[in-house]
Amino acid sequence: AGAHSNRVHENGVEREDCRAKGGAGGFKVAVLGASGGIGQPLSLLMKMNPLVSVLHLYDVVNTPGVTADVSHMDTSTVVRGFLGKEQLEDALVGMDLVIIPAGIPRKPGMTRDDLFKINAGIVRTLCEGVAKCCPNALLNIISNPVNSTVPIAAEVLKKAGVYNPKRLLGVTTLDVVRANTFVAEVVGVDPKDIDVPVVGGHAGITILPLLSQVNPRFSFTNEEIEYLTNRIQNGGTEVVEAKAGTGSATLSMAFAAAKFADACLRGLRGDAGVEYCAFVASEVTELPFFASKVRLGRAGVEEAFPLGPLNSYERSGLEKLKKELQASIDKGFAFARQ
Ligand code: NAD
Ligand code: LMR
Repeated sequence: AGAHSNRVHENGVEREDCRAKGGAGGFKVAVLGASGGIGQPLSLLMKMNPLVSVLHLYDVVNTPGVTADVSHMDTSTVVRGFLGKEQLEDALVGMDLVIIPAGIPRKPGMTRDDLFKINAGIVRTLCEGVAKCCPNALLNIISNPVNSTVPIAAEVLKKAGVYNPKRLLGVTTLDVVRANTFVAEVVGVDPKDIDVPVVGGHAGITILPLLSQVNPRFSFTNEEIEYLTNRIQNGGTEVVEAKAGTGSATLSMAFAAAKFADACLRGLRGDAGVEYCAFVASEVTELPFFASKVRLGRAGVEEAFPLGPLNSYERSGLEKLKKELQASIDKGFAFARQ
């Protein structure tokens, strides 16, 4: 498919593609890493989102097939595929939102930090493209280790002179999705009626669910708090082990990323009251990046909410996570500055 042209060929006839003009509130979204375990179902879900008028699918392999496949879904979103680094810039020009699930996943026995060596370079290259081609786009970073890849993205954008901290978001929605599921199981309600704030970062003990602030409020026993906190912190590892070497969470991640992208787009459209947890540049603690509940709006992150009153279990979890999170942030900074 032509990268910039709005001409489409259908049944041997070339015509102007009216759908690609954006329509009412239509946004242009790119998925980088679209052929992967997350990328494919995420592309499917974005093709189903009525807020998305144009969907660009980029990867270093297999995008022609994924694009042909997804493009047959009878929703109005126009899908275009881009293959290999020579097509990265065409994939990015004009985008409102860029979602990055590119990079290798964990195998059993690995930490997310073990992915740093390969994924840091991938995120740097892709963010250099973003800085050049769509510096005002909102960026959703999924590639692990998120605690380091988001600082890398920030440094790359800074180097290019286009960094806007309100537009860079690390995706921690899967932690909230898991927390909602596990808490709902324990208290015996529908997960859609539960909202668990999860703060900190996205790896092990840096994932801190605030069970004292679950909406609606529930009071948990100490055993329940211990069980839920451990299960939420190790949800990724639970999937990695169950998949036994074939990858990490892809389907629940695509679901979470699609929810978060939809929230970002509703914010960009100007909807009121769009609030999600995300890993962002932050003044909520002394750490330069921190996941907490933020309000999404036209500017991206309009406001990061304070953590609110924590109980002693959560205060101690917060103190414990700071050292590891700061080290992961510094590792990202050091990589991008070298
Ligand atoms: P995968 O291996 O199935 O897919 C990754 C895709 O990235 C592949 O299609 C690959 O070709 C592509 N890719 C590699 N280098 C690229 C480049 N330079 N440009 C564009 N595309 C490139 O992996 P997956 O299961 O989809 O996971 C992807 C990443 O997401 C991993 O790093 C994983 O740890 C992370 N992840 C994060 C969360 C989270 O909550 N933030 C959850 C699950 C997985
Ligand atoms: C997750 O939380 O599922 C992801 O970060 C993938 C992983 O490596 O656990």
